[in-house]
Amino acid sequence: MASLAAPITHANQVLASLGSDLHVHLLPGIDDGARTVADGLTLLEKHYQSGIRSIVATPHVRADFFLNTQASIRAAWELIYPEAQRQWPDLRLTYAAEYFADDYLMSLIEQEELLPLFDRYLLVETSMNRESPYLSEIIRTLLDKGWKPVLAHPERYRPWHKRPDRYAELHEMNVIFQVNLLSLAGVYGPAEKAMAEKLIHLGWVGAVGSDLHHPNQYHYIQKAVQNPFFQMLNDVPLLNHALLHTTRNE
Ligand SMILES: [Fe+2]
Repeated sequence: MASLAAPITHANQVLASLGSDLHVHLLPGIDDGARTVADGLTLLEKHYQSGIRSIVATPHVRADFFLNTQASIRAAWELIYPEAQRQWPDLRLTYAAEYFADDYLMSLIEQEELLPLFDRYLLVETSMNRESPYLSEIIRTLLDKGWKPVLAHPERYRPWHKRPDRYAELHEMNVIFQVNLLSLAGVYGPAEKAMAEKLIHLGWVGAVGSDLHHPNQYHYIQKAVQNPFFQMLNDVPLLNHALLHTTRNE
């Protein structure tokens, strides 16, 4: 387990340019991410050593697999937060969710039971394998209600890879594209990696998340930061930087 005495050198602070992670599955036991508090703390330790100082934990919320609520997410956060505070007092750990675009999300929007990343930024994902009948309607509804949708890993939506118009449409609607570090490492395959790089090249990426689910994925971070397209993001005003300057405290 980590302590403040753990050696931290500039060389291993490979994520210091981001400073924050706004998409990660480290709350224990409520989705397909960290199973235990120990796993969650290991992810926190690795992020801290990489130079991350603000983290928004984003467990899945979707009707078919992970029917999480504000209460279940808060409860999982309370399992890990006190120890995180003790070990890394200058690491901010808040919670939100990664909302799957389904009818459950529609009902949460209606009930105004949403957990933003911060401010009005809401992390939303959709199906990797087929066009969602809900996504466009949900995005429009969110925008109408003053939310700022952040689309999780657009590079992973295979049906869109031959539909550049789909990306353009959402970009023109001011949807913020959040690419995954794991995509830049090639974890999901060459097509996802190439699309992440293309979106960065276009200047359409506004946020970066790790989307880590387990500590044993962490070695991919080292690979991701060596991708020249990650370096290109140094000059981009990312939501990650805005998050560092918010004052929200849980
Ligand atoms: Fe995720």
